Amino acid sequence: MNAAVVRAFDAPPRYESFADPVAGDEELIVTVSAAGLHQIVKSLANGKHYGSTGTLPFVPGLDGVGRLEDGKRVFFASSRSPFGTFAERSVTARAMCFLVPDALDDVTVAAMMNPAMSSWAALTERIQFARGESVLVLGATGVAGQLAVQIAKRLGAKRVVAAGRDQRALDAVKRLGADSVISLNQDSKELVASYQREFAENKIDVVLDYLWGSPAERLLEGITQKGLLQDAGRVRYLQIGSVAGPTISLPAATLRSSGLALYGSGFGSVSMKRILESLQVFLKEAARKPFEMGIKAAPLRDVEALWDAAEPAVRVVFRP
Ligand SMILES: NC(=O)c1ccc[n+]([C@@H]2O[C@H](COP(=O)([O-])OP(=O)(O)OC[C@H]3O[C@@H](n4cnc5c(N)ncnc54)[C@H](OP(=O)(O)O)[C@@H]3O)[C@@H](O)[C@H]2O)c1
Repeated sequence: MNAAVVRAFDAPPRYESFADPVAGDEELIVTVSAAGLHQIVKSLANGKHYGSTGTLPFVPGLDGVGRLEDGKRVFFASSRSPFGTFAERSVTARAMCFLVPDALDDVTVAAMMNPAMSSWAALTERIQFARGESVLVLGATGVAGQLAVQIAKRLGAKRVVAAGRDQRALDAVKRLGADSVISLNQDSKELVASYQREFAENKIDVVLDYLWGSPAERLLEGITQKGLLQDAGRVRYLQIGSVAGPTISLPAATLRSSGLALYGSGFGSVSMKRILESLQVFLKEAARKPFEMGIKAAPLRDVEALWDAAEPAVRVVFRP
């Protein structure tokens, strides 16, 4: 079959021939119609993600939409290595797939599920987000951050604050429902003061962090309190992505002087069963009322050329 194939961790995949998958017990063959080029797909392909098997060669692609042999149109959340989803056919565990509602097309579902999981599963499964709470999205200008703003609102957030470094993208995020924006392109002291004002005046309950690294350090500085008689509001801080850096330095005083509770949300932080259940609920919600996102569909034979050519806030979806 035709597929994208990774033969080296430091080079983009190439469109070439790869062996067809054969289904084992409790597995199904999927004829793939659409699969998204998510950040995790790239990190797995360059061997840097914690889920990487370290074995070459393999077909990249985490999830996708396709047809089962009985004709059912499904979303499938994973495949069995070395068979990824950037191929004409893939193989998945029966438990990893579910039907796609008729109201949603293949490309939209393939584009949306992984970035949506980052906030939908985080808010509904990793923490029990309650209607009326306020959310700050750190790194709100990317595909996942823009969906996070819309999802937080859809789940009943009272106030959503969007933080990012690109002013034009922040303006777009306002149109998607953010009540307020914080530019990361400020002098460090001014940025910390912006967070202090936001937390003091508007009581932020939840942070969804797509950046980590120094932007996370500045935000945490903003919730660190001075004085012995402060009354700290609880802040559930969800680590979700790390595009700005893989580590942070966390002062002890931040944890002792604030109501900070640190969480992470991703594969492993809750069971796959719960992630899949929550994604099915999300899909029904998306079918009821669409979410806005930038999507570019492209033929899979263009995989090598498009691998590193992403446009801001646009998810590339390959069609085999
Ligand atoms: N845990 C989960 O469940 C889960 C699920 C999906 C995604 N993620 C993770 O979430 C992160 C974002 O994913 P995505 O799909 O939204 O990616 P994306 O569409 O490529 O967006 C990345 C965003 O981060 C911004 N950015 C990059 N470096 C930055 C920095 N140093 N300071 C400020 N902003 C910076 C980019 O802004 P510019 O345009 O200005 O460069 C862009 O808006 C990734 O780490 C991804 O792996 C996690």
